[in-house]
Amino acid sequence: MTGTGTERYGERMFSHGHDAELDRLHGLAGALDDGSFRRLARLPIREDWRCLDIGAGLGTVTRWLARRCPRGRVVAMDRDIRLLSVLDDRTGWEAVESDVTREDFPAGGFDLIHARWLFAHLPSRDAVLERVVRWLAPGGWLVIEDLARFPLESSPHPLYRKVSLAICDAVINRIGTDPAWARTFPAPLRPLGLTDLGSETSLPAVGPTPMGRFWRRSGEQLAADLTGQLGITEAELAEFGELVESPDFHDLCLATVAAWGRRPE
Ligand SMILES: C[S@@+](CC[C@H](N)C(=O)[O-])C[C@H]1O[C@@H](n2cnc3c(N)ncnc32)[C@H](O)[C@@H]1O
Repeated sequence: MTGTGTERYGERMFSHGHDAELDRLHGLAGALDDGSFRRLARLPIREDWRCLDIGAGLGTVTRWLARRCPRGRVVAMDRDIRLLSVLDDRTGWEAVESDVTREDFPAGGFDLIHARWLFAHLPSRDAVLERVVRWLAPGGWLVIEDLARFPLESSPHPLYRKVSLAICDAVINRIGTDPAWARTFPAPLRPLGLTDLGSETSLPAVGPTPMGRFWRRSGEQLAADLTGQLGITEAELAEFGELVESPDFHDLCLATVAAWGRRPE
């Protein structure tokens, strides 16, 4: 299904002012942080690196970078920085409230740029990515991690598959997210002149897990879309909510596909 995508992320859907958004993003961070930290730890990070975390959310990756780069500069950028301050550790990094589709940092200013679950949601994601790469210093690394829908398409559980794909369709309709883009990684990085390209996929599961919490909260926020034009009944949505946090249920959720590359010296 292709959506018009006239709304922007956070304007109404997934607003950081929504009561349940903190809980939803805690679920996401809990599901994905270990994989992100493992991937980032493989880079030759130095204490004086200048790092940028775009679409930082709660800033869990920002804080990890700040601990690794105590003599550098770590910037968390988000179009809404309200939830960046809810975690205790506020040292060694700074917040910039800005829209990455409009912000322009000076060329060559960062040794590491990270973005997780951001680019797939952006209109003109390839053009924004091309601009972001210019912010890398010679030898600097780009690490992007994004969502991909393919594990949901093959779910053997009919209700879980039906509601999960409808959640994806609701997000596509609202903001034009591309849930298949990351499946092509690292292809979008090839035209950008980066070297040392790599890619890796993580497959978090729902059940009594942080991802289950995230996915249930996502469905709840989109309830009006799901039970309206997307044909999910209220009973199906309620059953889905119980199922995805049930200790008796296990299935794969959205994948996280990561890609990285280095700007030549
Ligand atoms: C799905 S959340 C991911 C948060 C965090 N990266 C994580 O993985 O835990 C997407 C984040 O990107 C931010 N965002 C969305 N569009 C943005 C834009 N155009 N510019 C900057 N941040 C944006 C949202 O406000 C939100 O915090």
